[in-house]
Amino acid sequence: MARGKAKEGDGNWKKFIWNSEKKEFLGRTGGSWFKILLFYLIFYGCLAGIFIGTIQVMLLTVSEFEPKYQDRVAPPGLTVIPRVLKTEISFSISDPKTYEEYVAGLNEFLNAYNNDQQTNNMIFDDCSEKPEDYIDRGAFNNGQGQKKVCRFKREWLENCSGILDTSYGYKDGKPCVVAKLNRVLGFKPKPPLNDSLPPEMMGKYNPYVIPIHCFAKKEEDVDKVGTVEYYGMAGYAGFPLQYYPYYGKLLQPQYLQPLLAVQFTNLTLDMEVRVECKVYGENIHYSDKDRFQGRFEVKFDIKSS
Ligand SMILES: *[C@@H]1O[C@H](CO)[C@@H](O)[C@H](O)[C@H]1NC(C)=O
Ligand SMILES: *[C@@H]1O[C@H](CO)[C@@H](O)[C@H](O)[C@H]1NC(C)=O
Ligand SMILES: *[C@@H]1O[C@H](CO)[C@@H](O)[C@H](O)[C@H]1NC(C)=O
Repeated sequence: MARGKAKEGDGNWKKFIWNSEKKEFLGRTGGSWFKILLFYLIFYGCLAGIFIGTIQVMLLTVSEFEPKYQDRVAPPGLTVIPRVLKTEISFSISDPKTYEEYVAGLNEFLNAYNNDQQTNNMIFDDCSEKPEDYIDRGAFNNGQGQKKVCRFKREWLENCSGILDTSYGYKDGKPCVVAKLNRVLGFKPKPPLNDSLPPEMMGKYNPYVIPIHCFAKKEEDVDKVGTVEYYGMAGYAGFPLQYYPYYGKLLQPQYLQPLLAVQFTNLTLDMEVRVECKVYGENIHYSDKDRFQGRFEVKFDIKSS
């Protein structure tokens, strides 16, 4: 009896896997299985479609040439070349080895500004050699291919160009530094209003220049900074507007930032002199947290022997 039951159970189990009478597999007919497969195929197909569709729509609204959300981009930093450790420039006039790394840093950076690097007329544009308004080069896409960039002549940096004086003034204890505003795609720096400038800068005001001014960081250093010479386009101590806006490294891979060189020609020797350089503009801000936003600091310590 018990045996028979077991056999019957066995039979049921086998019957469940393949019921030859009803032609059912695991309790379903072929047609039923087909419908289930078809249902899931369509169901997951639709899910995948919705997923891909949403991503496509999102990608359509994002341009590879221009970031969609720029509101978190900080205003540009002001960078000093040579890049110096702890913002200290310290050397001895009599020992060229002590300043060779500063000279090498300037040489390397200014190399891109040599005339022979700017010969291609397909890439470089002769913009005005005096400060002018922004140059709008169209939309931020490659509809017309890459955008041209303005030439910037290394000669404009005069005594800090490294062309006549290959030591950039360091051998005479008159060190040069070069300032640049960091690239921010699409950013148009706005010049300051004339009357918002420190009085000593007002005379050189130009509505198409973002001016820079360097001064003693501390009150007691005011007499030690000495004469400060600025070398930039057309003798203006700042960045001309025609180099802005920057269109990004896809559209302007060879973009040259306008430069401004600063030379300290009568620094007091044999003591620390702290100097701050600041760039002025209506949309240029300073921050206590980021000490390179719109300004930089250099501590000079030049030994006379
Ligand atoms: C530039 O250097 C030359 C030669 O050393 C010097 O005569 C001239 O005064 C310098 N220019 C400035 C603005 O310091
Ligand atoms: C800027 O202000 C100074 C001093 O008030 C004045 O001499 C100069 O002409 C002004 N420049 C411009 C372009 O308005
Ligand atoms: C350089 O600075 C000293 C004081 O530190 C001053 O006596 C001298 O006249 C200055 N030289 C020039 C050319 O400005």
